[in-house]
Amino acid sequence: RAESDRHRPRFHFTSPAGWLNDANGVSQRDGVYHLFYQYNPVEARHHRIHWGHATSTDLVTWEDAPIALEPGGPDAPDSDGCWSGVLVDDDGVPTIVYSARRGESESAAIAVGSADLRTWTKDPANPVIAGPPADLDTVAFRDHSVWREDGRWRQLIGSGLRGQGGTALLYESDDLRSWRYVGPLVVGDASDPAPGAPDWTGTMWECVDLFEVPAGRAELPPERGHALVFSAWDEGVTHHPLYLLGRYEGDTFTPAALRRLDYGGRYFYAPQSTTDDHGRRVMFGWLQEGRSDDAAAAAGWSGVMSLPRDVSAGADGELVSAPVREVEALRRDHVVVEPRPGTTVLDPTRVDGRQCDLVLTVTLAPGAWVELAVLVSEESGEQTVVRLDRPQDPDLDLDLVLDRSAASVDPGVDATPRSGPVPHEDGAVTLRVLVDRSALEVFANGRALTARSYPEDPGADGLVLRSSPEAQVSSIDAWSMADIWSGPRELRPR
Ligand code: FRU
Repeated sequence: RAESDRHRPRFHFTSPAGWLNDANGVSQRDGVYHLFYQYNPVEARHHRIHWGHATSTDLVTWEDAPIALEPGGPDAPDSDGCWSGVLVDDDGVPTIVYSARRGESESAAIAVGSADLRTWTKDPANPVIAGPPADLDTVAFRDHSVWREDGRWRQLIGSGLRGQGGTALLYESDDLRSWRYVGPLVVGDASDPAPGAPDWTGTMWECVDLFEVPAGRAELPPERGHALVFSAWDEGVTHHPLYLLGRYEGDTFTPAALRRLDYGGRYFYAPQSTTDDHGRRVMFGWLQEGRSDDAAAAAGWSGVMSLPRDVSAGADGELVSAPVREVEALRRDHVVVEPRPGTTVLDPTRVDGRQCDLVLTVTLAPGAWVELAVLVSEESGEQTVVRLDRPQDPDLDLDLVLDRSAASVDPGVDATPRSGPVPHEDGAVTLRVLVDRSALEVFANGRALTARSYPEDPGADGLVLRSSPEAQVSSIDAWSMADIWSGPRELRPR
């Protein structure tokens, strides 16, 4: 059956069929990028999770590799799934550290790869960590951040301490197989910020990822030199990705600030990152669906991988992200639009509004606003609106807002708004919006907002810019984006 789903992205990575969630084993080896991912090749729901695998030399086009891991037999620790984990280099031997799932029980397991990373063998001694320390009252025990330090391995496993908050449990090892528990690296407080806040830290931390913040444009004080990224989770609900800026030293992480990683919340979930040979911190996140499980099951696919992001420190020392510059290679037919005061309609014959990259340079005086409506249909009235507002108080951040209240006439899709603050100097902002069918990635002065949108009208490809009189839009650069798949994507399990 040929791919015919109009909501399926064309320049984002998706699985060949079935279900995709977290990025796993994100790494670069001998110049080749490897992206593994949580995968159910059989159907578009989260069940019996495998590790899918794809490779790329340019971070833009991907080649599917054979499935790397599949759940074990009925007695295996991973009989119900090979959950998230990482790929490390064990003195030349590619080694996966992942979470084995059996019923509700979670343990740490290992698999070693052939030199080409296409054949994987699980360690017969699995699990290498049978479960959380017996004297801790934990909520879940899964996902791994593993690194080498002072001649030994260290790893974090995501968890939560009941009655307290999310945590990352620290372990160490000489051989990746026998692990000694060190202690909780840092423990969150599930009562502050309060449940429901956009920076609530949850009762459990999924997909912990610890790294040194690439300096980027900032001088980083040592007390903010590391980032601990995690996804706040509670009672089966995936909330949002957050990060702590702080200092990792010895066996502790001393937090200095808690921040939101992406204002789309659950639409950029469970990110994982690596350093590459350009010295960049490259990060992928999972764009969950905003449509019903039934709709995804009927489409035969679920889940989109974000474009790879280059993450570094902004001028204020907080994380800023942008699609890696390689993504620009997909740009076609550059159009420069002269904005008019009020409303500017972009010509749909010159820019493919279903699949495009748009860059706006804007200066907002206090009280001014600008909005870009994408996936617009005159017929159905559908539109997805990205908006920037500058408050009257000149010292306040801009507000970046995604308004999906008219995004789809389908009442079954998520229409809740998203928003977050954007720092600026004198109202200057660079707004970049990437539209790829149902996938949307927005960047405003390095702050990201990722989401999904599902217009019913297949012809919803309009692009309209509106602004208040006190907004100066100096230019709009627009490109249609090329497909990364040479033919239609097969919706057939391998
Ligand atoms: C995050 C997550 C991880 C887990 C994996 C299972 O989305 O729940 O905590 O390892 O997905 O697929």
